[in-house]
Amino acid sequence: MRAKMKPYKKTDAGEILVNDEGIEKVWVPSQETQDTTVIGLAELLNETQMMADHAAIMTMLLPPEQLGEQHNQAKKFRETFVKLHQRALQTEPQPEPVRRLSDEVLPQAEAIHAFKERLLQDQENGRIHTLMWPSLLDHLARETERFMDRQEQAMAGRIQQDREEIIDFWADIMSEHSDFIAHLLDPAEIESIAQSSDFADEFAAVSEEHELQGKTDPVLGAIADLIDFKETALTAVQEAEIQSMIPPELADHVRREAILFLHELMRVDAMTGIQMEAA
Ligand SMILES: [Fe+2]
Ligand SMILES: [Fe+2]
Repeated sequence: MRAKMKPYKKTDAGEILVNDEGIEKVWVPSQETQDTTVIGLAELLNETQMMADHAAIMTMLLPPEQLGEQHNQAKKFRETFVKLHQRALQTEPQPEPVRRLSDEVLPQAEAIHAFKERLLQDQENGRIHTLMWPSLLDHLARETERFMDRQEQAMAGRIQQDREEIIDFWADIMSEHSDFIAHLLDPAEIESIAQSSDFADEFAAVSEEHELQGKTDPVLGAIADLIDFKETALTAVQEAEIQSMIPPELADHVRREAILFLHELMRVDAMTGIQMEAA
């Protein structure tokens, strides 16, 4: 697994690191950082980009001729979050600027969340016919909800660091990514589909049950393997070594989310003093 982290911004209170090996960057607070301003900014950097990606994906999958209004709305969200991401890049990890940014981002996150929920209900009930599965819309909505929750907590000065919650949330997300990838691959890509479906099953099982094995946690090894798979998939999609209808931006998006999962887990383990190696 590569996913190398480099220094991004540092204050007395903590440090943000960055990975720039894909299409977009991914930011993480350094493992010992407990400062909620620093954590809050790292999440704002990631999530403004993630929401811009979600909006771009929705724009692509809402046919403009049939669903012009929704298509244009998605496009507007894309513009809004691209701007907010630019602002995040210019924000220093200090309490006041981060709070101001957070206050601007949260209402927009609320709005895009409501938009996703509305599309989900309309698609589920057959009122509209987008190119998005209800499970994709539900996935996008849940990611937004967790971001908003964590951002509110960070701005209140306390962010939940619960190992079980991290695994419960992300294992489902990882399982769904693998299912999405399996369904977007060319049906002729039998091996890659099977590999992706195996990851989907593995993470669905992790979500059901995960136990530490002494001082090792098999989940960490599973995430590292999944990051490898997603990194390889990104290159394969970019270079057309694999046939699919996966936009490279989507392959990159799910790669970054896997990195976030690993780092949230490693950080909570570092904080609680549990030293675990990948099994
Ligand atoms: Fe996402
Ligand atoms: Fe996702």
